[in-house]
Amino acid sequence: MTALTIALSKGRIFRETLPLLAAAGITPAEDPETSRKLILDTNLAEVKLVIVRATDVPTYVQYGAADLGVAGKDVLMEHGGDGLYEPLDLRIARCRLMVAGDPDAPPPRGRLRVATKYVNAARRHYAAQGRQVEIIKLYGSMELAPLVGLADCIVDVVDTGNTLRANGLAPLEHIADISSRLIVNRAAMKMKHARVKELIERMATAVAA
Ligand code: ADP
Ligand code: PRP
Ligand code: MG
Repeated sequence: MTALTIALSKGRIFRETLPLLAAAGITPAEDPETSRKLILDTNLAEVKLVIVRATDVPTYVQYGAADLGVAGKDVLMEHGGDGLYEPLDLRIARCRLMVAGDPDAPPPRGRLRVATKYVNAARRHYAAQGRQVEIIKLYGSMELAPLVGLADCIVDVVDTGNTLRANGLAPLEHIADISSRLIVNRAAMKMKHARVKELIERMATAVAA
């Protein structure tokens, strides 16, 4: 049997991908929330899972260190998608990429300052509007930035809106609807075609169910 490595991140992506993997006949031997292992065996000797940061999943798959992976569309927009196929929308970890801020704040004098970990997506969004903005790169807790005067607004993912509300912020502009995608290394798609195709088909059936 052809060996297959699948890159996943801990937390919501791992949790929500589990039932789809199960539909493809794959059950992890360990839970990444309790194990410190980064390479997890599965019930199938030829299938391994590697546990990486959500933002690193496209990189592992791009370089072929993993044959497949599951990544949010937000992460893929930011990565750019080089060397990857994106054959299946898994419809999990759904949210929206949005501009958010204090709806009562006066318009800034000078350039709008935007704090985000999505610097490429944010730059593209404002460029499409013909607006020159200053992007400030952060790695988390974006909602804090407008509260302490680091930025006028943020670009982040929003689901229930609870995090924004809890910090006195509101969604201002919609950038993209987000869900997680199955991604496949371009070479693996050719060299391991039968095995990859079967996995995609089984997962697609589970998504549609
Ligand atoms: P990270 O540690 O990078 O924040 P997460 O597991 O929180 O990793 O997020 C993984 C992916 O899940 C994101 O890239 C995004 O597509 C999606 N996501 C993030 N936050 C939410 C949320 N609150 N609700 C639904 N989906 C989300
Ligand atoms: C994500 C995101 C927002 C929040 C949005 O954070 O960065 O802060 O969810 O969801 P809501 O609209 O339902 O409140 P997450 O829970 O992933 O925390 P972390 O990435 O900072 O660990
Ligand atoms: Mg998160």
